[in-house]
Amino acid sequence: MRNILITGGAGFIGSHVVRLFVNQFPNDKIYNLDALTYAGNLANLTDIESANNYTFIRADIQDLDKLREIFTSNNITHVIHLAAESHVDRSITDPLAFVKTNVLGTANLLQAAKEQWQEDFADKLFYHVSTDEVYGSLGDTGFFYEDTSYDPRSPYSASKASSDHFVRAYFHTYGMPIVISNCSNNYGPNHFPEKLIPLMINNIIQRKSLPVYGKGLNVRDWLYVIDHARAIQCIFSNGNTGETYNIGGHNEWTNIDLVHLLCDKMDEKLGREAGDSRKLITYVKDRAGHDLRYAIDATKLKDELGWEPSLQFEEGLSKTIDWFLSNEEWLTNVTSGSYMNYYKEMYHN
Ligand code: NAD
Ligand code: TYD
Repeated sequence: MRNILITGGAGFIGSHVVRLFVNQFPNDKIYNLDALTYAGNLANLTDIESANNYTFIRADIQDLDKLREIFTSNNITHVIHLAAESHVDRSITDPLAFVKTNVLGTANLLQAAKEQWQEDFADKLFYHVSTDEVYGSLGDTGFFYEDTSYDPRSPYSASKASSDHFVRAYFHTYGMPIVISNCSNNYGPNHFPEKLIPLMINNIIQRKSLPVYGKGLNVRDWLYVIDHARAIQCIFSNGNTGETYNIGGHNEWTNIDLVHLLCDKMDEKLGREAGDSRKLITYVKDRAGHDLRYAIDATKLKDELGWEPSLQFEEGLSKTIDWFLSNEEWLTNVTSGSYMNYYKEMYHN
């Protein structure tokens, strides 16, 4: 039996990974470790919270002693590390929070795993979930490959790049079995509404202005979150130790084209007049150091492990809009912050 520690499991991507693992691996124990920051929300997991193989642990990866205790008392054999500060805009206003969680927190987890495993690395794995943003910014052409040089340009991507380097250092120096995946932008249910797609959906519902940074010509490669979770399961089960796998959707959109598409789809679903929501678009000051374009080449993952996205973008976007429209309570709680008050009462901090 494996004791699998998933960090950041109350967040957007983590909650989909936790659900997939709890359902796919009933004979393993799944521990969800999360500090429940503003981005962590246990309401993302109500459907599986009473499963026999699931345990939630509230802890901060900045706390090495606490991690040591968790590894020892639960005999952790596998780690899937998603906990992070994840929003580029927040990293511009508070870079040190990103150093503390993404760099120091990852180093703490590696150290706790190393001490627990004592160089007996048989049937152990440290899986680190990272981003394509570590590769920097592309021009109009080209793709990020697994061997593209790192060139992070925001405090967020610099902190993720640093964490990737620490994970590889534990592989090369101590022989720890690790695997890393670098994924493009995710979208889907439970996405925190300060990122582009859920923010626009929320603002369209409320007829608020739609803030497009700069000229809206920056390009992102979008992948449905459940396809990312499937890729993580595939790499966890079949990936080669020490390797890196890029995950992406081959699905590039300029921000403005994407916002137009969202507006049009939502006008249709909300029974509004065609073109209504586009009128809400407002061009605002550009993000500092705004990366122009990200695009992943995921051929290695397809050729070696057989993974491919299962959803076309329009279908994924439609499912996403439907999820937000039928989970307005979730959206209201998250945007009003009332779930944070609940945690304060529940956990007394
Ligand atoms: P998120 O912000 O939605 O969730 C992060 C989770 O980590 C939250 O539940 C939060 O409570 C928890 N957390 C934060 N600091 C913590 C700490 N110090 N200790 C313990 N838990 C802590 O993020 P996400 O979008 O789900 O991203 C998850 C991972 O995937 C991150 O590592 C991110 O870098 C990576 N990633 C994200 C994307 C994307 O498009 N969102 C793309 C590629 C890679
Ligand atoms: P975001 O969802 O923050 O992801 P990332 O910066 O990690 O790619 O932003 C996606 C793109 O959308 C990015 O180019 C910035 C842009 N953007 C806006 O134009 N307006 C917004 O309100 C937000 C949050 C993002």
